[in-house]
Amino acid sequence: MRSLIVGTGSYSPEKVLTNADLEKFVETNDQWIVERTGIRERHVGAPDQASSDLAFEASKRALEMAGVSAADLDLIVLGTITGDMPWPSTAALLQGRLGNKKAFAFDVSAACSGSLYALSIADRYVATGVAKNALVVGVDMLTRIVDWKDRNTCILFGDGAGAMVIKPTDDPKRGLQSFHLHTDGSQWAILHQPGPGSRHPLSQQLLDERGHYLVMNGREVYKFAVRALVDSCREALAANHLSASDVTYVIAHQANKRILDATLERLEIPASKCWMNLEKYGNTSAASVPTTLDEANRAGWFKPGDTILVTAIGAGMAWGAGIIRW
Ligand code: UT7
Repeated sequence: MRSLIVGTGSYSPEKVLTNADLEKFVETNDQWIVERTGIRERHVGAPDQASSDLAFEASKRALEMAGVSAADLDLIVLGTITGDMPWPSTAALLQGRLGNKKAFAFDVSAACSGSLYALSIADRYVATGVAKNALVVGVDMLTRIVDWKDRNTCILFGDGAGAMVIKPTDDPKRGLQSFHLHTDGSQWAILHQPGPGSRHPLSQQLLDERGHYLVMNGREVYKFAVRALVDSCREALAANHLSASDVTYVIAHQANKRILDATLERLEIPASKCWMNLEKYGNTSAASVPTTLDEANRAGWFKPGDTILVTAIGAGMAWGAGIIRW
């Protein structure tokens, strides 16, 4: 048995922060941001919105498309690194909000690869018959943990949520085919948030040293990302006996237009096959893949049996690729 995506949904907070807005508080400019990243604007959560609120909106939309009632979910897997609170899991909070009593629910911490990791886990439960109606969510509010004084990072990120409902299918030509996930923990320092945590508990010193903000070595992440995305996509294609020309569409984590262009060029896949939306949203971390999938789906891109290559990379470093037969 395989699992099939039967519903997608996404949600972006209302408030939009443009590159021109950023120019007012950090030394940057629209031209630099567009040329180096492809980003023009990003969405920022309202002060009273938390990740589970964004996840709730995206989940409602995915459930509606799937024709599945929230009460019937038996599994919720949620990728995030900016949950509502340290614990309990944002998946548990989402379950409560959805009024569901039946599902077991947990978070996955794999940063920008969070929803890809979450999807691969939910796939295992569904394909083995343990779960029949699974909800997979990617949500992040990185604007809550970026240093708005650091122009190297604050221009990149936005808030959002994306969701997918998966169910079992007997159709051998459709469904999630395989995932190829990787982690290189020796590279954790190139993209991380020092605290608060058990290494650096909340303290005045942590705040004074700005240790509660996201830290990134952009150049190192960039180099790592292109190599890792290309390698994992090649691995996913080879495992499914596919060549680049067999790929109908690519759904990729929206980190940086240059990273995606370089990756697609190396894979010899035309850029027109890859849905791009980072111009509007920036990098929304775990929300990026399911939001992108939802937009392409609602635009009518996918037909049953289409071959979709999905790929993501983020802090860990954690990355991977998978093949979906729509
Ligand atoms: O999900 C994964 C998350 N992370 C990423 O995807 C990030 C991957 N990395 C990148 O996307 C790129 O490295 C960046 C977009 C972050 C930076 O682009 P870059 O081409 O690697 O620029 P750079 O860091 O080499 O900086 C070039 C110059 C520097 O000035 P100097 O030292 O050459 O004088 C920076 O200080 O651009 C300067 N700079 C800026 N200028 C205007 C850095 N940030 C800005 C800015 N506005 N916002």
